[in-house]
Amino acid sequence: MTNSLSNAFDAESFRKKGYAMIDQLADHLQRMQSPDLSQKVYDQTKPEALYDFWKKDLDAPTGNWYEKTLAQIIHLHHPKYLGHQTAPPAPEAVLGELFGAFLDPGMGIYEQGTTGVVLERLISEIVADKIGFSPETSSGFLTSGGTLGNLTALLCARAVKIKTDVWEHGYQGKQYAFMVSEEAHYSVDRAVRVMGMGAAGLIKIPVDDQFKMNTSLLEAELIKAKKNNVEVIGVIANACSTSTGTHDDLEAIADFCQLHQLWMHVDAAHGGALLFSRKYRHLLKGIERGDSVIFDFHKMLLTPSLVTMLIFKNGSHSYQTFAQRAAYLWDNQESGEWYNLAKRTFELTKTSMSFRVYALLRNGGEQLFEDYLDRQYDLGRTFAQMIKALPHFEMPVNVPESNIVCFRYAAPDKTAEELNEINGSIREAIVKEGEFFIVQTRLKNQIFLRVTLINPSTTVEHLSALLLKIQSLLK
Ligand SMILES: Cc1ncc(COP(=O)(O)O)c(C=O)c1O
Repeated sequence: MTNSLSNAFDAESFRKKGYAMIDQLADHLQRMQSPDLSQKVYDQTKPEALYDFWKKDLDAPTGNWYEKTLAQIIHLHHPKYLGHQTAPPAPEAVLGELFGAFLDPGMGIYEQGTTGVVLERLISEIVADKIGFSPETSSGFLTSGGTLGNLTALLCARAVKIKTDVWEHGYQGKQYAFMVSEEAHYSVDRAVRVMGMGAAGLIKIPVDDQFKMNTSLLEAELIKAKKNNVEVIGVIANACSTSTGTHDDLEAIADFCQLHQLWMHVDAAHGGALLFSRKYRHLLKGIERGDSVIFDFHKMLLTPSLVTMLIFKNGSHSYQTFAQRAAYLWDNQESGEWYNLAKRTFELTKTSMSFRVYALLRNGGEQLFEDYLDRQYDLGRTFAQMIKALPHFEMPVNVPESNIVCFRYAAPDKTAEELNEINGSIREAIVKEGEFFIVQTRLKNQIFLRVTLINPSTTVEHLSALLLKIQSLLK
């Protein structure tokens, strides 16, 4: 071995640096949980400044780069992190990831993935049971994010529902489409375009005043599509929508799909986690009637990203998604061994996602999930009441269904344009200052402040402080 190789694989150096890094992260976590935490959640720095900083560091490395990163990066474990839907990873799941990253077997084929592949199956059986799918006939796997999960599910729907062989011969001039609420995540639109179906491949159904798909419009839209020679192959339901956290009526969508023999895909990237909450499970009523379901463990189930479950009611469908030969990996593409996952996934070399989930499940995970979900969803409702008590604030939904809460300042003497400007500048000022991190969204052309109550250490006191800060910015 050359010097560089023996240094790179030196076990003692790994041990020393590994312990030091874990110490550093544990100290950071402790700091984030301290009652007198004064550290900012976020230090807004221009990309060019950070680029110059790291270029210098790379050219002449000095000091500890983990420490430098900790001083710059956004802190998901900070109780005032109220931004995007990325959960603060639970340390146990992080250790699972570290373990998997070190061993790094690759989950695409069984001869490499072995234990990790089996764990994926066990996890998918737990999920099947929670959904109400038959453990014998359903089948699922983990994949790299909700975006890829949605694309994979829609590709499968296409393979099952279209009578001709699109995989081999393309669409042959025919226009197919999926229906989805206008509030769907952009990954659905992207998936349909990636599939070559174009803009006409997605029929966007308007939402009602609570941002749920207006399912009473589905029939008329289907008739209109037929008239235009568009064949609808499926409907995608939101559970829940990204902007407002609203759940579509899964029963109504399932009735429609059943009547017209359409594929029903449930994009439960955020809300699918509620399978683990007895209190809020009712929001997913009808999910068991879906043909495919995705949800992200890295959103509301505390793993580091990315860990997405894609599960099919009829597991045999999942083998129809791709039809490519790979003689060096397996002899027969047509055979459906559950343990050669790459036959059904985009990824071949797939990370050991199951280790992250299993690490939690083995350590009281189901109870942890339920405690976490109930707490965060309860907090969403409490926060909504706090907003309602303020003069001149409004919310787009009467009662938030999830831990995503949108609201805005809406004094009656201001024009729509002024209100957009005021709310946009509130968000900008908050992020710039760095004590809190929140995001914004645009609903029916109005800018709303948007928080996701995703941190288990966020309390009512933190939320009161946020509202006081917002009010102070209005002065
Ligand atoms: C409803 C919904 N679907 C899909 C996605 C995409 O998931 P990912 O970021 O894991 O690719 C998101 C992300 O926010 C989402 O909210």
